[in-house]
Amino acid sequence: MAADSIIEIKNLTKIFGKFKAVDNISFDVKKGEIFGLLGPNGAGKSTTLRMLSTLSKPTSGTAIIGGYDVVKHDTQVRKLIGIVSEKMIMYNRLTARENLWFFGNLFDIPHDQLKKRIDELLDLVQLTNFKNAQVGTFSTGMRQRMNVVRALLNTPQVLYLDEPTLGLDPQSSVEIREFVKKLNKESGTTVIITTHMMVDADLMCDRIAIVDHGKIVALDTSSNLKKTISGADTTILKLGIANLNSDLIETIRNLNCADSVTQEDDGHLKILVHGQEAFDNVIDAIRSKNGKISSMENLQPTLEDVFLHITGHQVRDSATEKIPMEHKRFGQQAQGRIR
Ligand SMILES: Nc1ncnc2c1ncn2[C@@H]1O[C@H](COP(=O)(O)OP(=O)(O)O)[C@@H](O)[C@H]1O
Ligand SMILES: [Mg+2]
Repeated sequence: MAADSIIEIKNLTKIFGKFKAVDNISFDVKKGEIFGLLGPNGAGKSTTLRMLSTLSKPTSGTAIIGGYDVVKHDTQVRKLIGIVSEKMIMYNRLTARENLWFFGNLFDIPHDQLKKRIDELLDLVQLTNFKNAQVGTFSTGMRQRMNVVRALLNTPQVLYLDEPTLGLDPQSSVEIREFVKKLNKESGTTVIITTHMMVDADLMCDRIAIVDHGKIVALDTSSNLKKTISGADTTILKLGIANLNSDLIETIRNLNCADSVTQEDDGHLKILVHGQEAFDNVIDAIRSKNGKISSMENLQPTLEDVFLHITGHQVRDSATEKIPMEHKRFGQQAQGRIR
């Protein structure tokens, strides 16, 4: 293991029946890093975290946390980690303090230390004023802060957060992100966070692994991932077309220079194009169908664009997509292989 790594994952795989949920992934996480696993639903993020938490046994491959193997030394690993999972239980009829006291007693923490720790943590997430209120009366955001605090009772070196902002309102999401960053900065806790929210990954993580169908398809800092688009000959165009119709969209899609075409919620077309002639080709295609261009912008790539560029589909659920995606570069490669 590299000197500054706290987590080392090699060829980690989880197979359910015949289905590979996690497919031979390898990466290191540095001590003190906030590391993101970003990918759509079903990508294998939670399964990966469960293996790293000793809750699920890998089919093959290894994961070492702080020098301990998750299978061979699971007890030691559990002492090093805290986990905030999607399905956390809190006792609604107990107060905030009573809940933390209950869960704290599951660890081997002396009572005077635990009492101090609970007060510190409640203060850290600004719930001191609510310490004697029943958790059942808390907002979703407050409950999530309680979940995070609960995972920190044993002062873990590594904190796992599984979709920590899922179902939270924007304000509570900001609070959780800020809190995790503060915790990481002040106590040096290493964090692995899974998310399908681009903004979480972008604003929180030092490095991001993009996962799709159980595989890591890219791993870097957010800005380096974005450079893979803007640095190459790929450009993102945002076009307003007054008389947009499906025929026009299809015509643009059929251009060799167009890697993907999506209609944004506001009606604009977002087109990933490549090559020197791309601008001219897109405009010619629109004119050939008597399309009226009302606006044209060159966009900075977002993580969503990076994801689309690499995987050929969007991270958000297909049900919310307006137009089914077609990724021609990848499509052509796939066809080429078949022939
Ligand atoms: N216990 C299980 N048995 C069978 N399939 C599972 C089990 N747990 C997860 N899966 C499947 O593995 C895939 C990855 O799931 P998961 O790790 O929960 O994805 P993510 O957290 O990225 O949304 C999904 O297709 C899911 O249905
Ligand atoms: Mg999940």
